Amino acid sequence: SRDKELTIAIDGWTACGKSTLAKALAKELNYVFVDSGAMYRGATLHAMRKNLVSRNHVDINRIIASLPEIKIAFKNNAKGKAELYLNGENVEKEIRSIEVSNSVSSVAKIKEVRLFLVKQQRIMGINGGVVMDGRDIGSIVFPLAELKLFMTADPDIRAQRRFDELTSKGEKVTLEEVKENLKLRDEMDSTREESPLTQVEDAIVLDNSNLTPKEQLTKVLELVKKVRKK
Ligand code: DC
Repeated sequence: SRDKELTIAIDGWTACGKSTLAKALAKELNYVFVDSGAMYRGATLHAMRKNLVSRNHVDINRIIASLPEIKIAFKNNAKGKAELYLNGENVEKEIRSIEVSNSVSSVAKIKEVRLFLVKQQRIMGINGGVVMDGRDIGSIVFPLAELKLFMTADPDIRAQRRFDELTSKGEKVTLEEVKENLKLRDEMDSTREESPLTQVEDAIVLDNSNLTPKEQLTKVLELVKKVRKK
């Protein structure tokens, strides 16, 4: 008989490797992978282009009013990697920039933005067989997910990993800048009023400070097996 298609929610602190794990897991299980953070980044890029948000200003009302202009979609590239499209334009590279990273938490805290994106995220996972990573997946988007993970890692290790990732893509950033961005986002994302990052009671904590991506995948596949037996 065919295995039941699970819903897997992966939440946790910024730059803990949530997407890396979610992607590998989805590939292994032949599930859909959804990077919900990319959707918040896409909405932020749209607001930035209209000058509605910058590091020290956010025009909440006009951002809310402009939501109907935003069409967000994921499409696989030739290598099978999911990339984000904003109104038909591939913005995968742009949404990972430090500029977007510095403004995204200001946009993600807006209730209407969250409702707008959560609605789409729920549709993407409606049939199960999905691995979604973010901040509120186990708490708000899929509170009934069969498997919930909460990822954490040493802040210095996270900053170094993200710095390596950005510089390898040619982004001009300093380690200090990256560290500061992670700290600020973690603080904003976990203290905001609307669906803050929280570790839900039924989540399994995964500290990957000293685990390779492969070791993490092996661990989580064990958990998947256990959940399926239930
Ligand atoms: O996963 P990420 O770092 O690419 O996400 C970017 C930002 O988007 C993150 O700092 C907070 C916000 N976010 C959120 O509020 N809820 C989610 N489910 C995913 C991301």
